[in-house]
Amino acid sequence: MSEEKEGVTIESLAGACARFQEKLENCEDDLAFTDIWTESLNELSEIEKAFETEKLDGKTILDIGTYGVKPLYIALKYEPYKIIGIDEELSSCAKSIEMNYKLFVKTEIKFYPCNVFNDEKLNEILDKENQHKSDFVLLSKTLHHLRTGECIARKRDPEHTCQEDESTCIYKFDEQEIFNCLLGLGKRLIVYEWYDPGKSDNDKVRGRGGYFTPMEWERILRHLSEKYRTVLIQPSKFSINEEGIEKVIEKLRQIETICFYVEKVE
Ligand SMILES: C[S@@+](CC[C@H](N)C(=O)[O-])C[C@H]1O[C@@H](n2cnc3c(N)ncnc32)[C@H](O)[C@@H]1O
Ligand SMILES: [Zn+2]
Repeated sequence: MSEEKEGVTIESLAGACARFQEKLENCEDDLAFTDIWTESLNELSEIEKAFETEKLDGKTILDIGTYGVKPLYIALKYEPYKIIGIDEELSSCAKSIEMNYKLFVKTEIKFYPCNVFNDEKLNEILDKENQHKSDFVLLSKTLHHLRTGECIARKRDPEHTCQEDESTCIYKFDEQEIFNCLLGLGKRLIVYEWYDPGKSDNDKVRGRGGYFTPMEWERILRHLSEKYRTVLIQPSKFSINEEGIEKVIEKLRQIETICFYVEKVE
């Protein structure tokens, strides 16, 4: 039987499918791009409570894992002195905001492609911007990417075997090391996370990603409350001390977002 019917060949169908798939992927990117503006607005309505102020005159912010949108909104509302956003993969959105923000915003906004673990590059940026210790460090939906330990994926899936490319691995989160390092970058660390261990984390790179489980949250918050001043903002506002941990964990069973801040006790 002929593969050609009225000028249609298997090759031309395959070509059309590939073009449709590309169009679909572009549409998905566009949708994600529009969602980010409304999502950021929703999320900032929680995050902003962690500033505990009406204005941020003269203050500096370091946004780790920036998409660019939150710094713009923060600049518009709070007018801090400067916001530096870093991301290991800087979005096109951040690049266009950087080009045009000066039309609307007094705050200086700078974005850099940089992995927070790349000490040399990060120090170069902070030297250049003369911002070694920011007033606020923001980690919005980025903390769960800062996993650096051994693979713990087998705890979640007994069938897990580490592949050579580690694409299915999940590294352990080392709260002691990470928070110590982050608190070197700023006075108040604001963390916002959406989490659902049952859902896959789309922008996970090797074992660096995967939402925190309730047990991980318990371990992280216990460590923070013992060592630092830790104030929960969302689901409800209170200072977490050791007695408060159970109350927080109980709350975390009911909702999927958490926002808190951490400071060194002077
Ligand atoms: C879920 S997105 C969050 C984007 C943005 N903060 C927001 O709230 O919409 C996490 C971002 O963290 C970035 N990221 C992950 N690990 C990183 C690292 N080690 N250093 C810098 N950026 C990182 C990713 O590239 C990604 O853009
Ligand atoms: Zn593994």
